[in-house]
Amino acid sequence: MAEAFNDLILPAEKAERYALLAEEIAAVLDGEPNLTARMATVASMLAASFDHFFWTGFYVVDPDKPRELVVGPYQGTLGCLRIAFGRGVCGAAAESGQTQVVEDVHAFPGHIACDARSASEIVVPVFDGAGRLIGVLDVDSDQKSAFDEMDASWLQTIVHKAFSIARTA
Ligand code: SME
Repeated sequence: MAEAFNDLILPAEKAERYALLAEEIAAVLDGEPNLTARMATVASMLAASFDHFFWTGFYVVDPDKPRELVVGPYQGTLGCLRIAFGRGVCGAAAESGQTQVVEDVHAFPGHIACDARSASEIVVPVFDGAGRLIGVLDVDSDQKSAFDEMDASWLQTIVHKAFSIARTA
């Protein structure tokens, strides 16, 4: 098996890549108010940023079923369409409002296996400017233990800037 990404990259280099990515995402989104366009752009730019990310995208809170997530813009293989709050990693993030870092998805109770390659994942809740949960960002890796506190912190910064900070478009 290929060496794990976190064993091959220095923390400073990873931080630098995230910093640049966060800047690029903010620049591309500047002035664009449409939520779908913003989510699609974040999913695409994340997918292109690190080779071991094989699924990047959003599950959004269904306005008609407030305790259910429905798939939104994503990059990757087919994802399941709906996830109830409390189910799997995405459902846990939506239920708790807390970022979930899962080193081994097979050890996570109730993990929903959309793709057999999934080994580890991170799910970050997404809030709007009023602090309401609007969905979650899900990033999956084919490597075990691919995500740590640095990924959590940068992905939270990226979604905060993209969806929570009031825009003047
Ligand atoms: N991993 C998620 C399911 C969605 S996909 O992986 C695209 C989960 O357990 O919440």
